[in-house]
Amino acid sequence: MTLRIAILTVSDRSARGERPDASGPALADVVTQQGWTVVKREIIADDFDLLRERLSEWADSGEVDVLLTTGGTGFAPRDVTPEATLAAADRLAPGLAEAMRAASLQVTPHAMLSRATAAIRRRTLIVNLPGSPKAAVENLQVILPVLPHAVELMSDDPHAEAGHGKAA
Ligand code: MTE
Repeated sequence: MTLRIAILTVSDRSARGERPDASGPALADVVTQQGWTVVKREIIADDFDLLRERLSEWADSGEVDVLLTTGGTGFAPRDVTPEATLAAADRLAPGLAEAMRAASLQVTPHAMLSRATAAIRRRTLIVNLPGSPKAAVENLQVILPVLPHAVELMSDDPHAEAGHGKAA
């Protein structure tokens, strides 16, 4: 199953061109290694309104199955990616963030400092990943196996239920 993935890098400094975006390309590599397609890529500032608008616009385009954000999930005052995600969301998908945090705690206690969330808008799953390339890729690896079935379930396909139990 080919998935259409969008990658949104959230970083004031990268948006201003002061720091190269390392996480977006790292995530794109993982996605293409799966045989999936990166359909949208952008670097955006840590701005709540801008973020909510872009998340909504990409989800409403009907062109994106899974929208990955990287950055803005920590405790810094400008970190608002989870709040913008929830503002754009129709429904919550907490299990993905719970799984990522649980797995990341095996890597570092700092995993507790990720406020990442996951949610659904229309037929798009939005997943927040941390900002560093290492952390972003580690977190994405945790949820990769369930993404095809998640996308199946979000469609109206009556056969989607048949995929239960085949995820891992
Ligand atoms: N998760 C994994 N797997 N590996 C990591 O190195 N870093 C953590 C955490 N999650 C990390 C991780 C750190 S240091 C922080 S502050 C939070 O993610 C939030 O990251 P962000 O502020 O870059 O979004």
